[in-house]
Amino acid sequence: MSAERNRGVLVTGASGGIGRAIAQRFAADGERVAVHYASREEEGEATLASLEGGEHVLVHGDIADPAAAESVVAAAVEGLGGLDVLVNNAAAVIPHPLPETSYADWQATWRRIIGVNVFGAANLSYCAARHMIERGTPGRIVNVGSRGAYRGEPDMPAYGASKAALHSLGQSLAVSLGPYGIGVASVAPGFTLTERVQHRLEGSAGEAVSGQSPFGRVAAPEEIASAAAYLAAPEAVWTSGAVLDVNGASHLR
Ligand SMILES: NC(=O)c1ccc[n+]([C@@H]2O[C@H](COP(=O)([O-])OP(=O)(O)OC[C@H]3O[C@@H](n4cnc5c(N)ncnc54)[C@H](OP(=O)(O)O)[C@@H]3O)[C@@H](O)[C@H]2O)c1
Repeated sequence: MSAERNRGVLVTGASGGIGRAIAQRFAADGERVAVHYASREEEGEATLASLEGGEHVLVHGDIADPAAAESVVAAAVEGLGGLDVLVNNAAAVIPHPLPETSYADWQATWRRIIGVNVFGAANLSYCAARHMIERGTPGRIVNVGSRGAYRGEPDMPAYGASKAALHSLGQSLAVSLGPYGIGVASVAPGFTLTERVQHRLEGSAGEAVSGQSPFGRVAAPEEIASAAAYLAAPEAVWTSGAVLDVNGASHLR
C-alpha cells in the first residue's frame, strides 16, 4: 500500500458484478469505500461486509434523479469525511432491439438508459468534482464505459450510445478539471462474467461470446477492477483523458 492511499472512494453500482469487484479492490488497496446501490440493499450490504479494513459506508439512490445523485455524493462525503475518487460504474442495461420494440417502449428505454448512464454519471461527476475543487483535492473520476461504444450494441442501441457519451464526457472533463489537478479516465470493458450476463455464456451462443477473444474466454470482474484501480492511482494521473480498452483483444480500434 502506498503512503498516499486511505482515500475516500465512491463506487456506484457496487451491489454486485464489476462494481463489487471494484469496491473490493479499492478496499484491499487501503482505501475507504462508499458502496453505492440502487435497489438491491441486501447485495449492497453483502459487498460492504466483504470489504477488507474498516471505515467503509453504504449509500444508495437512483442516480437518474438529480436530487438523489446529489444526495449520494453528499452521503459519501459525510460518511468518508471527504471524497477523493468517484467511480461511475452504475448503469441501466435494458434490451430494446429495434425490430421487436414498440415505439412507446423505445422512447421509455432510451430515456431510462440515457437518464442513468449519462445524466446520472454527469450529475455525480459534477457534485464530486465541485467537492474536490472546493477542498483542493487532486481527485480522480473513473468511468466504467464499454467496448459496445465502438463495437456496437445491436440489441441495446441506447446502451451503446450511452457508453460513447460517457467516454466523451470523461474526455471533456479531463480537460476541464486538469487545471484543478483532477484526473478523469474511462475503462472500456469487453464481455465480463457477472451474474447479470452469466446466462449468455451457456451453450453454443456462449462459446461464440468466449471466442470473440483470442484467449477464448471472457473477463473476470477483478480484471476490470484492476484497470479502474490503476486509472485512479496517484501515479496514473497522466492517463487523464484516456479510454482504456480491457477486452482481451476481442475488439481492436
Ligand atoms: N458485464 C459486462 O459484460 C460489461 C461489459 C462492459 C461494460 N460493463 C459495464 O460495467 C458496469 C457494471 O456492470 P455489471 O455487469 O457488473 O452489472 P450489474 O451487476 O447489473 O450492476 C449494475 C449496477 O448498477 C446499479 N444501477 C442500475 N440502475 C441504477 C440506477 N438507476 N441508479 C443507481 N444505480 C443503478 C445497480 O444497482 P442495484 O442492483 O442495487 O439496483 C447495480 O449495482 C456497467 O457500467 C456496465 O455497463 C459491463
